[in-house]
Amino acid sequence: MYKPQEKYEIIEKRDLSDVISEHIIYAPLIARSAKPGHFVILMKDNNSERIPVTLVDWNKDKGTITVIIQSIGKSTADINSMKKGDFFLNVSGPLGTPVEVKKVGTVVGIGGGVGIAELYPIAKAFKEAGNKVISILGARNKDLLILEKETKEISDEILITTDDGSYGKKGVVTDALKELYERGEKIDSVFTIGPLIMMKFVALATKPHSTPTYASLNPIMLDATGMCGGCKVEVDGKFKFACVDGPMFDAHKVNFESLLKRNNAFKEFEEQSLKEFEKKHNCKIGLH
Ligand code: FAD
Ligand code: FES
Repeated sequence: MYKPQEKYEIIEKRDLSDVISEHIIYAPLIARSAKPGHFVILMKDNNSERIPVTLVDWNKDKGTITVIIQSIGKSTADINSMKKGDFFLNVSGPLGTPVEVKKVGTVVGIGGGVGIAELYPIAKAFKEAGNKVISILGARNKDLLILEKETKEISDEILITTDDGSYGKKGVVTDALKELYERGEKIDSVFTIGPLIMMKFVALATKPHSTPTYASLNPIMLDATGMCGGCKVEVDGKFKFACVDGPMFDAHKVNFESLLKRNNAFKEFEEQSLKEFEKKHNCKIGLH
């Protein structure tokens, strides 16, 4: 009889920056069926929120999965305060529709902030499928740039931009994408993961070139099983549930404006809960 796994232990934990941590978690059933583009829902304890995070890596032999989390609010900060040897109450997954990986030619992967971690398994899979992979990584500053070495290893070329010019070229990821078009690079597909506003501008930049472009959407999720409707997104004029139909969608068909509005709906409550967390733990977290 099927017996759910009871203990999801953190086997390794590594801080990649002040606000971003990598967790390697024992979850053999998930590791066995994980594919690029899948995500999991983490629950730290009985009182915590259900937090969706992308599977960055997995090891079927060791039975482990890797997630990389940016402290952006109360729940992500709470998870990043966990240590090696701590246990999650629950890890559900793999969830979502995996990305269809095939040989298309030249694939450009564009990751912003913690989206770089989410892009990594997709870029790696396209490289393994025989594509030329160009990775564009963007971060606010050098300290927030993650997985440069790992991404370099699976890319034919890597371009880096930082908002403040502290590393790579000063500017944003769409500047680097424009350079690729200007030098005549024939781009067959673009995958982008990061802040909604960044993905919206990537979609606007690729549309005049008719380059097929896919964005991984990050709406607020509750059950992540297609039941609650919390993650509703508008794609091609129709409503889709990002948790089951996505999270990756044709970026040229996504209504980014309505998604930006929906994701800000709980801002007041989120800020209040972050303030209470900071007061309780006498700390300052997030990027605010
Ligand atoms: P909150 O207090 O809930 O929010 C703090 C701030 O973050 C607010 O400004 C709010 O508008 C914004 N926010 C809230 N929820 C989201 C969201 N879903 N996406 C973007 N901004 C949000 N994060 C990672 O660090 N690593 C990942 O690999 C990762 N993968 C994801 C995969 C999917 C499919 C989805 C839907 C989200 C993913 N996220 C990932 C985002 C992560 O789930 C949110 O950052 C987290 O739920 C915020 O919870 P919080 O309580 O810490 O912050
Ligand atoms: Fe409930 Fe997607 S999170 S339907």
